[in-house]
Amino acid sequence: MTDQLIVFDTTLRDGEQSPGASMTRDEKLRIARQLERMKVNVIEAGFAAASNGDFESVRAIAEVVKDSTICSLARANENDIRRSGEAIKPAASGRIHTFIATSPIHMEKKLRMSPDQVLEQAVKAISWAREYTDDIEFSAEDAGRSEIDYLCRIFEAVIKAGATTINVPDTVGYNVPEQFAATIRTLIERVPNSDKVVWSVHCHNDLGLAVANSLAAVRAGARQVECTINGLGERAGNASLEEVVMAVRTRRDIYQCDTRIDTTQIVPASKLVSGITGFPVQPNKAIVGANAFSHESGIHQDGVLKHRETYEIMRAEDVGWGANKLVLGKHSGRNAFRSRLIELGAAIESEEHLNHAFARFKELADKKHEIFDEDLQALISDEAVTPESEHYRLVASRFHSETGETPAARLTLNVGEKEIQAEAEGSGPVDAAFKAIETVAKSGTELLLYSVNAITTGTDAQGEVTVRLSRDGKVVNGQGADTDIIVASAKAYLNALNKLHGKFEKLNPQI
Ligand code: KIV
Ligand code: ZN
Repeated sequence: MTDQLIVFDTTLRDGEQSPGASMTRDEKLRIARQLERMKVNVIEAGFAAASNGDFESVRAIAEVVKDSTICSLARANENDIRRSGEAIKPAASGRIHTFIATSPIHMEKKLRMSPDQVLEQAVKAISWAREYTDDIEFSAEDAGRSEIDYLCRIFEAVIKAGATTINVPDTVGYNVPEQFAATIRTLIERVPNSDKVVWSVHCHNDLGLAVANSLAAVRAGARQVECTINGLGERAGNASLEEVVMAVRTRRDIYQCDTRIDTTQIVPASKLVSGITGFPVQPNKAIVGANAFSHESGIHQDGVLKHRETYEIMRAEDVGWGANKLVLGKHSGRNAFRSRLIELGAAIESEEHLNHAFARFKELADKKHEIFDEDLQALISDEAVTPESEHYRLVASRFHSETGETPAARLTLNVGEKEIQAEAEGSGPVDAAFKAIETVAKSGTELLLYSVNAITTGTDAQGEVTVRLSRDGKVVNGQGADTDIIVASAKAYLNALNKLHGKFEKLNPQI
C-alpha cells in the first residue's frame, strides 16, 4: 500500500497573483472543471474576501465542482474567514485556508504584532472557521524563514483549536531541499498530535527549487503538496503540479506515495491555463513543454525506435500528449459534436447555444479538415462570450499587405446596437487592425502582451492569439482563434475590450 499524496492546486489563487494572469469568473470556472476532471483533490478557488468578483468566482466553482474539495483563502481575521465560509457553502466538500505570517521579519515589520499576539490571532481564526467547516487548513506564512521553536508552538495551538491540515510555506523561495526536508521532519517529530493532521508544503520558485523542495518534503513525511499548473504564480512561480505529480508517479520507489491524478489530463490543463492567462509554456519545460518528448539527436531517435525506454522515462500519451487525436470532421453530426463537448466539460446552456456552436464548428470544418480537441476548446471559449458581454463584435474584415505598400485594415464592427466601419494603416496588418479598432473604441488602454500560438499542428491550424490590455490598474487578457491569424488577433483585441467594457473586475488580489 502506498500513501496518498494530496494534490492541492492553487492556480486560481496563487497562480492568479502573477502580474497579468487575472482571470474572469468564467475562465476560472473552465479551469476548475478541468482540474476536477484531472482529479485534483483540493482546488483553491480564490481569496473570497479580496473582492466581490473573487467571492463570486469561489462560490460559482463551489456550486459546480463536486469531485474536488473547494477551498478559499482567508487572512486570519473574522471578516476574511466569514467571507470564505459563505463562498464555500454550496460546495460538496469545502475548506477554509487561513494564514498568518510567523517569521520575525514579517511579524515585526509587516504585521507589527508580537509572536504571542500572532498565535492568539491564529487560534481565533480557527475557531471562526469552525463555524463553517471541519476542514480547516492553517498556513504559517514565511514558515521557511520562521524559527522552528515558534513554528512548533503555533502549530500545536492551531491543531488543538481544530486545524486539520498544517501548511508550511516557503513563501519567498529561500529554502533548499535538505534543509526544508529537515524542517518538515522536525515539525512532524516535535509537534504534539502531528499524526492527527495532514502536513502540507507550499513552495515558491525564486531559486528554481520549488519542485525539489516539495519533493524533499514528501520524503520527510508531507502528504499534501500545493502547486499550480505550469508552475504559474507570484514572481518566479509556485511548484509545478505536473512535475510533482509525474515525479512521484515515475519514482514511486523513492517517494512511497502516489496521487489520484488522471495524468492524461495534464497537457490539456496546461494548454488551457496557458491560453487563458497568455503565459506561454517554454518548449523545454518538463512534462508540458512542446519538446519534452521530442528526440532530435540521431542516436536518441535510433534508440527510441529500437526500444522506447532507452531514452524515455515516461510515455508522452500518459501525460496527455497525442491523446487529443483527430476527433471530428466535416461530416461529423450534431450528436457526436454534443458528446465531445460534454466530454470536454463544456456547459451547454440550451439547444440554441448548441446549435450556434455547431454552426460555428461546421464553418471551421470547412476551412480545416481535421478538428482536434484543442480546436473545440477554442470554439467553446469563444462561445462563452454571451451577447450581453459582447459590446464589440467583428462582423467582417479586409486586410491589405503587399511588398512596398503600407499595410491597412478595414473592419466592420458591431458596437452595441450599431454597425460601424473602421479603417487604419499600421506597421503590419495586426497593428493596422488594432489601430482600426481603436479609432472606434478609443479605449485608452496600454497593450502589455501580444502572443500567437498554433493550436494544433499543420499550416491549416488555427492561430490562438492572446492580447493583454491594461487601463487604470485593470489588467485583462483577451483571446481569439481563427485559421487567419489577423482575424484571430482582431477577435482577441475585441475580447479584451469587452472584458474592460463589461462588469469585469480586476481579480488580482496581492496579499
Ligand atoms: O506563499 C505563501 O505563503 C502563500 C500562503 C498564503 C499559503 O501563498
Ligand atoms: Zn504562495
